[in-house]
Amino acid sequence: MLVFGIESSCDETSAGVVIGGKQILSHVVSTQIKAHQVYGGVVPEMASRLHVHHLIPVLDAAREKAGIAWGDIDGVAFTVGPGLMGSLGVGVSAAKAMASFLKVPMIGVNHIEGHIYSNLLDQEDDFHYPVLVLVASGGHTQLILMREPFSYELLGNTLDDAIGEAFDKSARTLGLGYPGGPAIDNIAQTGNAKSHSFPHVRTERDLDFSFSGLKTAVLRYNQELGLSSLPKDAPQMADFCASLQARLIAELTKKTFLAAERYQVKQIVIAGGVSANSALREQIKGAPTGVKVSMPPLKYCTDNGVMIAAAGYARLLAGQTTPLNVVPTPSLRLVPRAVISK
Ligand code: KG4
Ligand code: ZN
Repeated sequence: MLVFGIESSCDETSAGVVIGGKQILSHVVSTQIKAHQVYGGVVPEMASRLHVHHLIPVLDAAREKAGIAWGDIDGVAFTVGPGLMGSLGVGVSAAKAMASFLKVPMIGVNHIEGHIYSNLLDQEDDFHYPVLVLVASGGHTQLILMREPFSYELLGNTLDDAIGEAFDKSARTLGLGYPGGPAIDNIAQTGNAKSHSFPHVRTERDLDFSFSGLKTAVLRYNQELGLSSLPKDAPQMADFCASLQARLIAELTKKTFLAAERYQVKQIVIAGGVSANSALREQIKGAPTGVKVSMPPLKYCTDNGVMIAAAGYARLLAGQTTPLNVVPTPSLRLVPRAVISK
């Protein structure tokens, strides 16, 4: 089965064609990062306008690169939420037009589910249930238990910022630009991760996350050491970024491993833009023995259409499609916030 995936929830206009939820025929991303960089973050109104501008060329390129005809497509998957209303609307409208013209089903995909299914792209393997998912993106930091397909239990959540936000806000404080995650990751490569220490993070429930204390520590360090006026390639900046990154990632892995043991999972998967982080990709391998660790191929970690196609394929196979009158849902959740397992 051939599924066409469309992603437009934030600042990437992306589409791709996937066979059987795994084999990628095309993967096209038009990023708006440069346009938003000037403002230090995503400007929602501009994001919508740029999606309108770029979507049709991106859809055409995805079909052409896949070497298929429009009539070969069996389903159109699209991000229905969460995300920016105006941005989502552009992709949703295009999906409606495509599906009705091609007379194929359309499948509204939760963006986070898309990130989770990016773990199956280019892989032979399927999920080994129970699966523990660490969702680490610009908007989410959650530990989610999947006992079977499409069953999501929230084990832990961030109490303040998402991990991607923690990277982005710290980078802004340090004058490293937007998006901050890749910037800090790059600069950290040559630094000494033990050079700076950060306060201990405490949360009432041991599987929740909190990054606000670390964010405040970055502000303090910057006031004391004047880090933001250093050149980006200063050894002191590399040391600071390496220490900060190590600390942020240690928070994620510590709780992920705790949950893996508590819930006796067979597999850990990481999902969301921060799964591209080099320290996370390395440290997550230290999972408890016997637990399989998976991560998305690097190029499918940040927002893209193929992950939406992969999740859409799974839903389509299960007979779950979406009616044409669907509307975007900016605050769509995979699991209700109240469902925190004990
Ligand atoms: O999943 P994503 O592309 O968009 C959302 O759904 O939010 O995630 C974007 C986030 C940004 O906060 C960005 O700074 C972060 O992912 N990110 C990284 C890295 N690459 C992207 N964070 C740390 N290290 C990276 N290498
Ligand atoms: Zn995302």
